[in-house]
Amino acid sequence: MSNIGSYEERLKDFDWGIAKEVLGWENGELLNIGHICTDRICARGQAEKIALIWEGFGDKKRTYTFGDLRIYSNGFAKFLRDQGLKPGDRICIFMDKIPSLYFSFLGVLKMGGVAQPLFSAFGDESLEVRLESAGTAAILTTRKHVKKIRKILDKLPELKHVIVVEGDESKLKGEEVFFDVEAAPRVEEFDAYEVTPETPSVLHYTSGTTGQPKGAQHVHSSIWGQALTASWVLDLRDDDIYWCTADPGWVTGTSYGIIGPWSLGVTQCVLDSGFTSARWYQFIQDNRITVWYSAPTAIRSLMRDGVEPVNAHDLSSLRHLASVGEPLNAEAVIWSEEVFGLPFLDTFWQTETGAMMISNYPGMPIKPGSMGKPFPGIEAAVLDLKTHEPIEEPDRVGLIAFRPGWPAMFRAYRNKPDIYRSKFAGAPEGAEPDELRTNTDLWYVSGDRASIDADGYYWFVGRDDDVINTGGHLVGPFEIESALVEHEAIAEAAAIGKPDKVNMEVVKAFVSLKPGFEPSGDLELSIMNFIRKKLSPLAMPQEIEYMEKLPKTRSGKILRRYLRALEWGEDVGDLSTLEDD
Ligand code: WT7
Repeated sequence: MSNIGSYEERLKDFDWGIAKEVLGWENGELLNIGHICTDRICARGQAEKIALIWEGFGDKKRTYTFGDLRIYSNGFAKFLRDQGLKPGDRICIFMDKIPSLYFSFLGVLKMGGVAQPLFSAFGDESLEVRLESAGTAAILTTRKHVKKIRKILDKLPELKHVIVVEGDESKLKGEEVFFDVEAAPRVEEFDAYEVTPETPSVLHYTSGTTGQPKGAQHVHSSIWGQALTASWVLDLRDDDIYWCTADPGWVTGTSYGIIGPWSLGVTQCVLDSGFTSARWYQFIQDNRITVWYSAPTAIRSLMRDGVEPVNAHDLSSLRHLASVGEPLNAEAVIWSEEVFGLPFLDTFWQTETGAMMISNYPGMPIKPGSMGKPFPGIEAAVLDLKTHEPIEEPDRVGLIAFRPGWPAMFRAYRNKPDIYRSKFAGAPEGAEPDELRTNTDLWYVSGDRASIDADGYYWFVGRDDDVINTGGHLVGPFEIESALVEHEAIAEAAAIGKPDKVNMEVVKAFVSLKPGFEPSGDLELSIMNFIRKKLSPLAMPQEIEYMEKLPKTRSGKILRRYLRALEWGEDVGDLSTLEDD
């Protein structure tokens, strides 16, 4: 085994201060995440070590050292500051998984900005609501995606800087600025912004059942949680070649696709091209990947393609596999053990938690289908659905909850203090965010249901709300419904998740049409495309069911949960209990 220790050993007298030991951290050192992941690794003599192995479509391949990472993040930091951007400004990163995404993310943090990564497949409406909510001052993007920004720029008075980091400079419009960090003069030194543990770092948007997406605000001290879990759960060591398959538009792609691993000086691989089993296995083989962090949907896709492509590749470099984002079914764990000789270890966490909360700690016996146990230092429970008291007896289903105070915890939902407060069971009325996150009499309620067995293992049951989890990505039904009713043919709409073998859930829409419109295949395609372009391919309904009228409560609220229950073949129960909750 490595230096991670056994779970039981680590539970004893656990203190988060141990994260500092793992990073070799001296008190008084600069805490800035951008600095820690670059300058600090170089300062300890690893400037020549490979930080990033990047492959794109076709056979594009590039590698960068920690020295390069330092210079190019300096380049972005200086450029942004020269543009007049200030610490605390929200700076959006809207691009595919190209190297500049990684350089600019660290550069933004270095100059004290708040990095707001957004998934590059987002359409103009998804983009607009998130940029507006964040009051974003600058957006970094590429030629390929800038068109979506042009469409909404007029509606975003606070967005002063549109910066294109790749492509053809001559094609820019209006006040767009071009900046290619690799072609620009090298910035050898940049004094990273002096942060406190509570200085805002990353702003990730996440969808809820009602209303628009919420911006979960993280701070620089999140790095303690991300570094320690990357070390102990992903078991990252100095000589590892690590691959996190997530896109940094989502929290996994920043916490464990940038911050955790690079804070430890570990070599990371990024594959920016479409999914095929053969391409993925080839990527592992070519780069001798040792640790692989992925998602159940990807694993089920690999399973579907069978063992043949596995056997056609040399995957002997792999030594440790983990998974996150949605339920990892027992079959997938057993299959991976059969074909890779290694089980995928499930981990559970959320955008809000910033780092892993429940996981299969390496060395702990695995119960396939279980998410494992709380990470050392995390006090977890399942709470009674009604009373919000911790459930003592085993195997009874309740709400997953955590005692506030872990380092990577979100510090706010941007501009939504009431919603933030509503996530804490027992929160005093009017309590301030700082009070909530440090009050260990409260419970942060995750919004997921689970049970705990007699051995202390957590078993995921499902979400406690209507949010759709498709392929490990959360989509808000309200966002889809709002977009659907903007289509010229649609009068009313409801969106739910329907079961899917690979993605676990896909979006299904129920719609009633305006007078003069008839259901047809063409209309269906038009609706699907409308949503794909406005929101994203993830939010696009895979099925549309036409109804004369949607079922509603007496006060006129659409009974989304009733439609969902019908779809899943669940007991629809007493309709009156679904009314107006
Ligand atoms: C939601 C959080 C942070 C990881 C990326 C998603 C679901 C997450 C598991 C798991 C079953 C899981 C939950 C959670 N989820 N991990 N191991 N088993 N469900 O972050 O977008 O904030 O989504 O994903 O429903 O609340 P996110």
